[in-house]
Amino acid sequence: MKIALASDHAGKKLRAMLRDHLAQRGHELVDLGTDQEGSVDYPDFAVEVAKRVAAGEAERGILVCGTGLGMAIAANKVAGIRAVAPYDENTTRLSREHNDANVACFGERVQDPELVLRLADLWLETGYDGGRHERRIEKIRSLDRP
Ligand code: RB5
Repeated sequence: MKIALASDHAGKKLRAMLRDHLAQRGHELVDLGTDQEGSVDYPDFAVEVAKRVAAGEAERGILVCGTGLGMAIAANKVAGIRAVAPYDENTTRLSREHNDANVACFGERVQDPELVLRLADLWLETGYDGGRHERRIEKIRSLDRP
């Protein structure tokens, strides 16, 4: 799967772990940084990943910051994005089955890195259930339209 990936300064180590782990599992990673020294602003990186996913240039996006939360807030401002910050197996699985989430955000300062790698695998492998959920996703999509 083609995955756009980015982090701010607070997520660099976990982003590198995710990049290596997912590449080893055969995914194509598009790493959008940050590679800068010092602090950067997480919305700048969230929007880069979100735009690529919304444009269909990447199938999914993964974002890392200190908590995962700022990245999710910013990514969700881009039309077509359903970004989540899953924290266990249930929220990870359900974010795909029910919400058809296309961006996952993780927090290097608050999550165990080995757990995040497992959650990333699960999130990428889990399909969307459709059915009754589609009406709800369509209502979310309608919020994107002017
Ligand atoms: C950066 O200090 C921190 O605020 C950021 O990485 C993230 O946790 C925001 O949600």
